[in-house]
Amino acid sequence: MTAQRIDGNALSTQLRTEVATRAQALKAKGVTPGLAVVLVGDNPASQVYVRNKVKACEDSGLHSVLEKYEATMTEADLLARVEALNNDPSIHGILVQLPLPAHIDAQKVIEAISPAKDVDGFHIASAGALMTGMPGFWPCTPYGCMKMLESIGYDLRGKHAVVIGRSNIVGKPMALMLLQKDATVTVAHSRTQNLKALTLQADVIVAAVGKRNVLTADMVKPGAVVLDVGMNRNDEGKLCGDVDFEGVKEVASHITPVPGGVGPMTITMLLVNTLEAAERASK
Ligand code: GUN
Repeated sequence: MTAQRIDGNALSTQLRTEVATRAQALKAKGVTPGLAVVLVGDNPASQVYVRNKVKACEDSGLHSVLEKYEATMTEADLLARVEALNNDPSIHGILVQLPLPAHIDAQKVIEAISPAKDVDGFHIASAGALMTGMPGFWPCTPYGCMKMLESIGYDLRGKHAVVIGRSNIVGKPMALMLLQKDATVTVAHSRTQNLKALTLQADVIVAAVGKRNVLTADMVKPGAVVLDVGMNRNDEGKLCGDVDFEGVKEVASHITPVPGGVGPMTITMLLVNTLEAAERASK
């Protein structure tokens, strides 16, 4: 069997068109959805990420502001900027790019963002809302994974999902989203014993570790759906995920490639969350 690829670029194009249409409808009511992206320091990867986020906003008709600060910015000054953005009616979503310089307490900054504008979904209030099934913002990467499952019409009820990785940004929220759709969820991590015994039982596997070849063909049940959140480089310097794509694609029914899989969905869901924040604010 050769797995069907779930194309994150194609799905993103479709979802971004929907975002653009909804943004137009809001604009007709006098509200332009606005995202503020805050970057502190000159981390090269972060600079690429924030540029892509701002460009994606522009392409979908969202207003975006990029605020760049020196790495020496104080925590107090950053907290003051967040507070100003909380009170700015033209801004509906606030994203403070991580990592922050070591002298700044990232969690404190995240908690300073108004939960109504927390389009990253990293605030404790957002995490609590996800856990209890209340309205809030879902973290963009696992939210994108859920959209990918939805795009293939996958019914999670009663299925066994194994999430590899337990980060606050991907693994934990992913597990809660799958649970909310009535999957039976196992969260595996670096201390898990006999990962293969777990993944072989899985109908859905989400690999979110940040290490190559965490999932190989011998670990996958025939017909399973495999989502690869990893972003790594192979020996030739080429982008690759956590999954041995060439091997696993011969066993799985569906698989996300890297690049062109979950990656583009993360920014797309940021646009969706920003639009949602603007729609909620304008009600
Ligand atoms: N750094 C890497 N990914 C992300 C993300 O999704 N949001 C923020 N704020 N920082 C990041």
